[in-house]
Amino acid sequence: MAEDFTVTPWEVKGDVDYSKLIKQFGTSPLDEKMLSRIKNLAGGELHPYLKRKIFFSHRDLGALLDGYETGKKFALYTGRAPSGSVHLGHLVPWMFSKWLQEKFGCDFYFMVTDEEKFLARNYTLEETKKLAYDDILDIVALGFDPGKTKIFVNTEYGKTLYTLGTMVGKHVTFSTAKSVFGFTNETNTGLVFYPNVQAGAAFLPSFLEKKDVPVLIPAAIDQDPYWRIARDVAPKLGFPKPAAIHSVFLPALSERGKMSSSDANSAIYTKDSPKEVRKKVMKYAFSGGQPTVEEHKKLGGNPEIDVPYQYLRFFEESDSRLKQIHDDYKAGKMLTGEIKEILVEKLNSFLEKHQAERERARDRIEDFILRD
Ligand code: TYM
Repeated sequence: MAEDFTVTPWEVKGDVDYSKLIKQFGTSPLDEKMLSRIKNLAGGELHPYLKRKIFFSHRDLGALLDGYETGKKFALYTGRAPSGSVHLGHLVPWMFSKWLQEKFGCDFYFMVTDEEKFLARNYTLEETKKLAYDDILDIVALGFDPGKTKIFVNTEYGKTLYTLGTMVGKHVTFSTAKSVFGFTNETNTGLVFYPNVQAGAAFLPSFLEKKDVPVLIPAAIDQDPYWRIARDVAPKLGFPKPAAIHSVFLPALSERGKMSSSDANSAIYTKDSPKEVRKKVMKYAFSGGQPTVEEHKKLGGNPEIDVPYQYLRFFEESDSRLKQIHDDYKAGKMLTGEIKEILVEKLNSFLEKHQAERERARDRIEDFILRD
C-alpha cells in the first residue's frame, strides 16, 4: 500500500507517521531504557525534547554510550543548508545539540552547505554564501562553547571536505545514490556528488584528530539517508560508524507537514518581529478548538492537532505548565484565543533574547569558524 506521507532530504509531505518511518528507515525507537541511560549519564536530567519524544529514534546510540561509559568522548555533527531564513524548526536539533555539548562535553562540528541549495534550487553561489554567514549568527546565538565548536562553510573548507567526499564517493555507486536519494538522469551531477560531502563530514573528527572519534548526529529524521551511506562506507574507510539521533518535525503553522522556509505564512523565522509572530499565530496557526465558544466550552479542544499546543511542546520548558495548558484546553476551560496568546508571548520572549544574541554574535563569528 502506498504511504500517504513522504520523508526525504528534499521533501517532507503529508501527515508523517513516525512509527511507520522507524520501520521504513530501519532505525530504532528511543525507548525508556535508553532514555534512563541518557538521564543517568547526563547527571540526572533529561532534556524536554527527550522526555516528550520529540527526539524519538536513533541509530547505534547504545554503542556510543557504551564507549562514553568507558571514558571515550564523542563528537557531535550537524548542519544547515542556507536558503531563505532560519525558522524555529531548524533550531530544534541545534538547541538539543547545545544541551548535549553541555552535558557530555562534546566537540561540536557544524556544516554550512553553501553549495547545496545552489545545486538544488535557484540561488547563485554569492547568495548562498551571504545567507550562510547570516545563518551562522543563529547558530552562534544559541550559546555554544567557542572552544569546542567548529563551524565550516563548504566552499571555504574545500580541501578537507573534498578529500573526505572523494573517499566516501569511491564506495557509493550511482545505483545506490539513485535508490537512496531518488536521483534521475536529469539530476545535475553536482547534486549527485553532494551526499558524499555531507556523509563524509561524519568522519571529520576522526580525520582531523587522526584517531577514532565516535560521532553522534542530532538532526530531524529527513537527513537519515545520508547516515545510511556514511554507516555503510565507514568500515571500508576505517572510520567508526556514526550514531544518529532523530527528531520529529516542528509542524507548519497552517497545514500538514513540516515547517519549511518556502511558505512565509507557515513558518516563524528567527528574525520575525513580535508583530509578525502575533499576526502569523493568530491568523494562520491551525486550531484544534471547536467552531464556537459554546461548543468549545462543552466539548473541549483537541491538543493533539492544535498547532499552538504542539509548538508549546517545543518551547514551554516547564512540564507542569505544559500539562496544565493541555488539560485546560482539552477540558474546554482554555479557549483557542487564549492558547494562541500564551504561544505568542512564549515565542516573542524567546525571540527577543535570540535576536539580541544574534546581534552580539556578529563580532564573534571568527571564534567559531574552522578553516583549512
Ligand atoms: P536544512 O537546512 O534543511 O535543515 C537544518 C536542520 O533542521 C532540521 N529541520 C527541522 N527540524 C525540526 N522541524 C522542522 N520543521 C525542520 N526543518 C528542518 C533538519 O533536519 C536539519 O537538521 N542537508 C542539510 C544540511 C546538513 C546537515 C548536515 C543537517 C549538512 N550536514 C548534518 C544535519 C546534519 C539540510 O538541508 O538542512
